[in-house]
Amino acid sequence: MAIERTFSILKPDATKRNLTGRINTCLEEAGLRIIAQKRIQMSTAQAEQFYGVHRERGFFHELVTFMTSGPVVVQVLEGEDAIAAYRNIMGATNPAQAAAGTIRAQFAESIEANSVHGSDSAENAATEIAYFFAGTEIVG
Ligand code: RTP
Ligand code: MG
Repeated sequence: MAIERTFSILKPDATKRNLTGRINTCLEEAGLRIIAQKRIQMSTAQAEQFYGVHRERGFFHELVTFMTSGPVVVQVLEGEDAIAAYRNIMGATNPAQAAAGTIRAQFAESIEANSVHGSDSAENAATEIAYFFAGTEIVG
């Protein structure tokens, strides 16, 4: 077990429905600490670059439209095995397949409007954190 950092987004469906506090309570109760946080309106260019790995997928355009449809909250989380721990409490991408009690099972509206993003590897966590935060904005 190691202390890790991961990158989190509370997506537009979560900010729209005023769920940011309830979702962050789930993270904190799971032992993750929010060590950086800001509410932003993502630009199309930012969303296209952030989800660039999905550029060839049929849902890419819709995904970029969704991620720019309203404010998001970007965050850095820290804790024991934070990357896997957060992915576990997020639940499966499709809320219909997400385990009971996970964030997506409780709050997601659909496979696209699924409330949260979490980094899927240590390498991506480092890249994604650096994409949205300066070192001085992260206070562990
Ligand atoms: P994320 O990157 O946001 O943490 O989600 P994830 O790893 O669970 O899922 P991923 O495969 O990376 O997909 C990224 C996001 O794209 C949207 N999506 N839409 N319409 C669709 O079939 C579809 N599939 C994925 C979701 O917002 C998903 O979280
Ligand atoms: Mg992903």
